[in-house]
Amino acid sequence: MTILHIDSSITGENSVSRILTRRIVDQLRAADGSAHVIERDLVADPLDHLTLGAFADSSVLEEFLAADTLVIGAPMYNFTLSSQLKAWLDRILVAGQTFRYTEHGPEGLVGDKRVIVALSRGGFYDANSPAAPLEHLESYLTGVFGFIGITPEFVHADGIAVGPQQREAGIANGLAEVERLAA
Ligand SMILES: Cc1cc2nc3c(=O)[nH]c(=O)nc-3n(C[C@H](O)[C@H](O)[C@H](O)COP(=O)(O)O)c2cc1C
Repeated sequence: MTILHIDSSITGENSVSRILTRRIVDQLRAADGSAHVIERDLVADPLDHLTLGAFADSSVLEEFLAADTLVIGAPMYNFTLSSQLKAWLDRILVAGQTFRYTEHGPEGLVGDKRVIVALSRGGFYDANSPAAPLEHLESYLTGVFGFIGITPEFVHADGIAVGPQQREAGIANGLAEVERLAA
């Protein structure tokens, strides 16, 4: 199994999404000792903003297509994903490679991957919460991966910016959800 481990948090040692992705990868490795892990840190090694010229380099797309399992750290910044992660998505949403338009509408071409996303958010975005209309992270990633044929699995660490207790509770919840992934 090839695991592509992607981080996109700018907060370094304080990053909650990085705690969760590390734990997920450790768990996957424990389950499959022969797993090969490729790390892509989109902050240490950022991709440029998308340009038409960028499509000439398909290395990011090829790395994605070659992976069986993706583990993606997705912090919420300004109610959506980090621009670093957006730049990566811009490389993998490629007509004719990961989706195509047919007479019946768009069709995803990448159905054979497991994608696990570790969400880390400062607040709470449950369906009935006041901030729910501002949730453009889980909803966006669900839509984008669905568009290319993948149903992502999410683990959630919420309330991280509310206070120290909520931060600990959010991390604990995320780690508990990681445990449940293995079950
Ligand atoms: C620049 C910046 C913008 C943020 N914007 C939001 C936001 O819009 N909504 C929110 O709930 N939390 C927001 N937060 C809090 C982060 O979502 C929270 O700290 C989360 O843990 C980030 O993931 P990380 O710890 O892996 O970096 C923001 C944090 C930073 C640093």
